[in-house]
Amino acid sequence: MIPAKAPHSSSHTASLEAYHERYARSVEDPAAFWADESAALDWFRPADQIMRFDPITAEIAWFTGGKLNVSYNCVDRHAAVDPTRTALIFAANAPGEYRHIPFGELLREVCRFANLLRELGVKKGDRVCLYLPMIPELAFAMLACARVGAVHSVVFAGFSAEALRDRILDAGSAVVVTANEGLRGDKAIALKAIVDKAVLGLDVVKHVLVARHTPAEPHMVPGRDQWLADGLGRQRPYCPVEWMDAEDPLFILYTSGSTGKPKGVLHTTAGYLLYAARTFHYVFDAQPTDIHFCTADIGWVTGHSYILYGPLCNAVPSVMFESTPLYPDASRYWQVVDDLGATILYTAPTALRALMRFGDEPVTRTSRRSLRILGSVGEPINPGVWRWFHDVCGDGRCTVVDTWWQTETGGILISGLPGATPMEPGSATLPFFGVRPLLMDADGREVHGNSSPGHPVSGNLCLAGTWPGQARTIFGDHARFVQTYFSAYPGYYFTGDGCRRDENGNYWITGRVDDVLNVSGHRIGTAEVESALIEHAAVVEAAVVGYPHELKGTGIRAYVVTRADMNASAADLQAQVRIAIGAFAMPDQVILVPGLPKTRSGKIMRRILRKIAEGEREQFGDLATLADPGVVAEILDLCVGL
Ligand code: PRX
Repeated sequence: MIPAKAPHSSSHTASLEAYHERYARSVEDPAAFWADESAALDWFRPADQIMRFDPITAEIAWFTGGKLNVSYNCVDRHAAVDPTRTALIFAANAPGEYRHIPFGELLREVCRFANLLRELGVKKGDRVCLYLPMIPELAFAMLACARVGAVHSVVFAGFSAEALRDRILDAGSAVVVTANEGLRGDKAIALKAIVDKAVLGLDVVKHVLVARHTPAEPHMVPGRDQWLADGLGRQRPYCPVEWMDAEDPLFILYTSGSTGKPKGVLHTTAGYLLYAARTFHYVFDAQPTDIHFCTADIGWVTGHSYILYGPLCNAVPSVMFESTPLYPDASRYWQVVDDLGATILYTAPTALRALMRFGDEPVTRTSRRSLRILGSVGEPINPGVWRWFHDVCGDGRCTVVDTWWQTETGGILISGLPGATPMEPGSATLPFFGVRPLLMDADGREVHGNSSPGHPVSGNLCLAGTWPGQARTIFGDHARFVQTYFSAYPGYYFTGDGCRRDENGNYWITGRVDDVLNVSGHRIGTAEVESALIEHAAVVEAAVVGYPHELKGTGIRAYVVTRADMNASAADLQAQVRIAIGAFAMPDQVILVPGLPKTRSGKIMRRILRKIAEGEREQFGDLATLADPGVVAEILDLCVGL
């Protein structure tokens, strides 16, 4: 345990006792707690009711009757106070290239964009697909959607044309916004060409807006495509906001689950914004002097909540980083920190593992004096990596917060608070205000109490009650929402994670307990990769499992059975997944096997395949139930040396 760093006079949580006191109040009377917190937003009309929650039907509503606008709360009200205050800092792919965007300019850009959306016929409730690199236009587009009441669906620009097409169709987006190219280190990615492929023959897509980010001249389809700058050039920089109901949808974000079809997680207006804003305020102990640098991509939920909505709602300048941690070298993050005077750095263990390989020098050659808080998100952080982050990157001076949450939770649910919570390397520590984690055993019973010597307390992590940032449904499929999250442990939200509670009540996330892999912090459903493989003409069957990977945390291994009369190499099958999903989901290992271990009823025994991938050679338990026990030995032979 490492004691909390000393709080300062303006810390939002002055001590562990102060945390416990506020926490107790927040769970005893969540409605009163969140009613108080909701004063952090500007409301056009106050709410009639604070919360409604039915865990059986998964009806969740916060601040019903209230009206507000997210864009107003993140932009207008701050521009009115000081239009020169920096809102966003674009850190371009090219080292040393920055663009500071003050609130006044942000307001004008967002208004122009909102007017353009209106000109294209976008109305309240319509879905707009954003397939963009980390450039300011992405932030303008999201805030413009929020301004006119449209629902944005940001698709990470690493997804393939096929995956993008599925997401455009599922959401029914008539407008797609992209860029001619994205830049990542030395590479240019032809995003517009990917969009062309994705929307080919899709009647639903009426307009494609293209941001000009590089000199590349993509093919433009007359009548459908236009340069964003041309469209914006026609617009006036004033646009009234649409006053939205608290429960009107704000965005859809697709994420992986246990089936092949991605889920469109839906978040709504007031609850999401309030939760992103207040978690940002407390977990990063946000101060007016802060400059926040979150290294995530806005294509994932971390970017939505902690690059855009959380910081901007708090008027804290936020960095949009286009590049990668290793470009041009392993010093890049710290260089950006020094150049901009960043005070908070929020990153992922996978990036830290990649940087650690280069040793301390790329870090220690920079000053990093401005930093005061370091955050980690996306996967369990191994204590060794945690210590390097704390001791070397933070010079032992900065608070480290390990923040546990999910796309579905909208914001951070378990984390320490600076100045208050003692740090425990590897543990996300304690629940945020209003959050009630509980652990369930295999029989669906709650496991009470803390661990004691010789008696570890662990189970599947569930949450009781509701919190404002909770997802409200899966777009177009509420039954799946109920089934996925509220059926395993009736009455509770099931996270899909395993967890241990230690002697001091700290929570240690042990990883997913379902068929979801966490690969470099990206969430990938094994079923999704399997269905991508099965699309290949030569593939008969495929089973995908994870295995420990030094850099990625989890690597992907695919066992594939191919047709005897067709040729498909491991490389072909890797390419197949790249085309169907994207390079980030590509299996690290593809093993062509004669058959898969199955029960007599035909169920694939993934447990055995997982054990083999983890390096087990002998202990597989009882194989007598297998239809063909010999197949295990054959697979083992094929895995020698991997
Ligand atoms: O397994 C947990 C892991 O990431 C999952 C959620 O993934 P996603 O929806 O993509 O959101 C990632 C960013 C919020 C969780 O179910 N996870 C996230 N944060 C942590 C974590 N595992 C351990 N420690 C964390 N701090």
